[in-house]
Amino acid sequence: MNITPQEIETYCVSHSSVPSETAKSLQEYTKSNVHGSQMLIGEMEASVLHFLISLGKVRTVVEFGTYTGYSALAMAEALPVDGEVITIDINKETTTLARSYWDKSPHGKKIRQILKSGLDATKELTGKYDLVFIDADKNNYSNYLDWAVEHLSPNGLIVVDNTLWSGKVLHPEAGDKQTESIVAHNLKAKSLPGFVKTLLPIRDGMFLLKRI
Ligand SMILES: C[S@@+](CC[C@H](N)C(=O)[O-])C[C@H]1O[C@@H](n2cnc3c(N)ncnc32)[C@H](O)[C@@H]1O
Repeated sequence: MNITPQEIETYCVSHSSVPSETAKSLQEYTKSNVHGSQMLIGEMEASVLHFLISLGKVRTVVEFGTYTGYSALAMAEALPVDGEVITIDINKETTTLARSYWDKSPHGKKIRQILKSGLDATKELTGKYDLVFIDADKNNYSNYLDWAVEHLSPNGLIVVDNTLWSGKVLHPEAGDKQTESIVAHNLKAKSLPGFVKTLLPIRDGMFLLKRI
């Protein structure tokens, strides 16, 4: 469900900084040729991520959920030249496509892929990171949030996508596991000490958490 009416979102996008033509063609290719293209964050959310990266002087990003690499490329474009996006996914096919598009961009060299499950990948990510973007494996959202809190740099920012889950978070009693998991994550995020939070009704819900 798109919470914002399409014509309003189109107007917003047309007045915002948006990803490059390479990212746009990756998005178009994905929509025409790849199963599950509704999973793309789209230009509106990419623009918000770009803005946050600029605002927060972000240099290092960890992303859970590469898919075909649109969001990773959009974030890499917003980073300084020495910035890095580490992006994690279990799907070899879509991440191979991702790399083929990143290679067309001067920002592609900022992107490092990990082809593993998110939980396995966290075992090798022992540093501190400026932005953690959670966009995969809804059943483990709370686990990724725990990891992010532990591995966030002092002024770090966490962004969690799909936190309104097409509005299903209003009816968790329906009993579907992913909805329950997102609701549990949202409650945990809401109660996190030492963070300022805002759950924005952008696209399918962007939960933003920043260390105070
Ligand atoms: C919503 S898509 C990511 C979209 C991407 N951020 C974008 O907008 O371009 C979610 C991705 O998570 C991946 N995924 C699902 N379960 C996973 C897991 N346990 N660990 C890592 N990735 C997983 C899927 O293969 C899928 O590509």
